[in-house]
Amino acid sequence: MLEKVEKLLSEVDELVANTAEEAEQLRVKYLGTKGVIKALFADFKSVPNEQKKAFGEKLNELKAKAEKKINSLKKETTFRVNSDNSDIDATRPVNPVGTGSRHPLSIVRNEIIEIFSRIGFTVSEGPEIEDDFHNFTALNFAEEHPARDMQDTFFVERNPDVALRTHTSSVQVRVMENGEPPIRTISPGRVFRNEAISARAHCIFHQVEGLYIDKNVSFADLKQTLLYFAKEMFGDKTEIRLRPSYFPFTEPSAEMDISCNICSGKGCNICKYTGYVEILGCGMVDPNVLENCGIDSKEYTGYAFGMGIERIAMLKYKVNDLRLFFENDVRFLEQFRTAD
Ligand code: PHE
Repeated sequence: MLEKVEKLLSEVDELVANTAEEAEQLRVKYLGTKGVIKALFADFKSVPNEQKKAFGEKLNELKAKAEKKINSLKKETTFRVNSDNSDIDATRPVNPVGTGSRHPLSIVRNEIIEIFSRIGFTVSEGPEIEDDFHNFTALNFAEEHPARDMQDTFFVERNPDVALRTHTSSVQVRVMENGEPPIRTISPGRVFRNEAISARAHCIFHQVEGLYIDKNVSFADLKQTLLYFAKEMFGDKTEIRLRPSYFPFTEPSAEMDISCNICSGKGCNICKYTGYVEILGCGMVDPNVLENCGIDSKEYTGYAFGMGIERIAMLKYKVNDLRLFFENDVRFLEQFRTAD
């Protein structure tokens, strides 16, 4: 009798089922009320007393083993769609579906908006296709003014009055034309210049313009706002440096450098071993510009600044080739995955 149990123990090990029905047949055969194991339990009575313990133990082992094996066969076969088509494994996890991620330039633009909105700046936008007045004339670029050569412009062939805007300063003009001071706004947007594409330049890029017009706005206000921005964007230890510069629409004008966040000011090839990198142009809005836009320059003053989003993103993420932002290679973009 013990031998019979031993034999069944190894038999159970080898059981196979290709379908759920086959697994069920095995259950009936071994574990059913009329099954072999039940029958053995019935035989227990006739086992001599001294063998009862050993036999009982083996029998329980057999029952447990059979249950385990048949249950797992059931599980396997239930999820198998069709035994004739056994290449399909419906139990395999599906391939993860990519959810995409926000573009690094959008992440940086949103961060800039957030930083300025905390100190009361609204967001305004203007058209990418501009007329000469908003892109140049209102901004104090005189007809034939050499400053117009500062930017190589994409003009529309049949109408020299229409061009792709070369900077977001055109939005300053639109905001001043349509609003009353106090004005405190930033304008993010795409701009276009006829430049050869390289690691540092592109014919399409993005800027954020800032404009603040009110009574008694001073250069000190500008400086403090930009210092706040630099620290929020690049960390509390960031220092700023303003260098005199020239723009037709601001007077005085400056360019702002921040202490190089790559080498922390020690000197590296990004800051060309100066410890500083330029991030924006700024200045006090030229009274002529205020007047061109219908604002009384005796009553109001203001400041403006403009920065390149690519520049900020390159420094923030330590990206050394601007073209990467436009290629949209997912292996690059995926690295900027954020929680939102
Ligand atoms: N529009 C300037 C540029 O594109 C930047 C700038 C904006 C400078 C506002 C001063 C004030 O380079």
